[in-house]
Amino acid sequence: MKVTIVGAGAVGASCAEYIAIKNFASEIVLLDIKEGYAEGKAMDLMQTASLNGFDTTLTGTTGDYSKTANSDIAVITSGIPRKPGMTREELIGINAGIVRSVATSLIEHSPNVILIVVSNPMDTMTYLTHKITDLPRHRIIGMGGALDSARFKFRLAEALGAPISDVDGMVIGGHSDKGMVPLKRHATRNSVKVSEFLSEDRLQQVVEDTKVGGATLTKLLGTSAWYAPGAAVSGLVQAIACDQKKMFPCSTYLEGEFGLSDICIGVPVILGRNGIEKIVEIELDDAESAKLQESAEGVTKTNGLLQL
Ligand code: LAC
Repeated sequence: MKVTIVGAGAVGASCAEYIAIKNFASEIVLLDIKEGYAEGKAMDLMQTASLNGFDTTLTGTTGDYSKTANSDIAVITSGIPRKPGMTREELIGINAGIVRSVATSLIEHSPNVILIVVSNPMDTMTYLTHKITDLPRHRIIGMGGALDSARFKFRLAEALGAPISDVDGMVIGGHSDKGMVPLKRHATRNSVKVSEFLSEDRLQQVVEDTKVGGATLTKLLGTSAWYAPGAAVSGLVQAIACDQKKMFPCSTYLEGEFGLSDICIGVPVILGRNGIEKIVEIELDDAESAKLQESAEGVTKTNGLLQL
């Protein structure tokens, strides 16, 4: 299993670290355009191998895509992160050009690759990747919902005073401050609906805190977060590499599912060796459907800024 990660910045490096520690990939290639940077990150991580007990080989390259040849999975984290006060949508001008050239170069060297798009605005970058490549839709996956769901679970556990392992919950919709749809009606504590424990007001607060999860961290850190994004990507990579058939909300190209078409947006999918093996059309009530629809309108508006 060969995994390429494009962008050796904080998200890319943390994703590489989590994948290495989980010890399921034989090889990770980090690629960055900053001279020597990916090589340095890879070497630093390799020097943790004996300490952390993994056998994955990490190498780095400055922009040489031939080193990524025959990757099974490639993660695109390249582009600029947002600064405090910015929305993810404001990054589109710079990141669209970068994602376009990165995706093209990756496929040139790895025609069978499964792409995981992380660069923001993520749903639109996933859509762009779909439009400019001829990969089937099951091989283009946008990472947002896995991260947003982890943040939802964090906020639920906090509100419940419960350990995270007691809590389950999922966020669908666009990966944006306004577009996320945390499914509070479906969230549970050890199979009991969280509404049994939390007032509607408290639950609504959890939802609001979840939606601005990334923005809250950007304000605290001065740049966008990396540990949870990296861990979320590593979860998707592992589900594919180990053919786990795990369910995650991921951004995928919809062709009528959930009443939506010609858009990439977060919905529950099953991930296995073929990438997205199934889109799970869960039942949404009227309020949830309306929120997903509204979220889709926002994503479509951002997609309209692309020069395709
Ligand atoms: C975040 C970025 C990765 O939500 O979009 O932290």
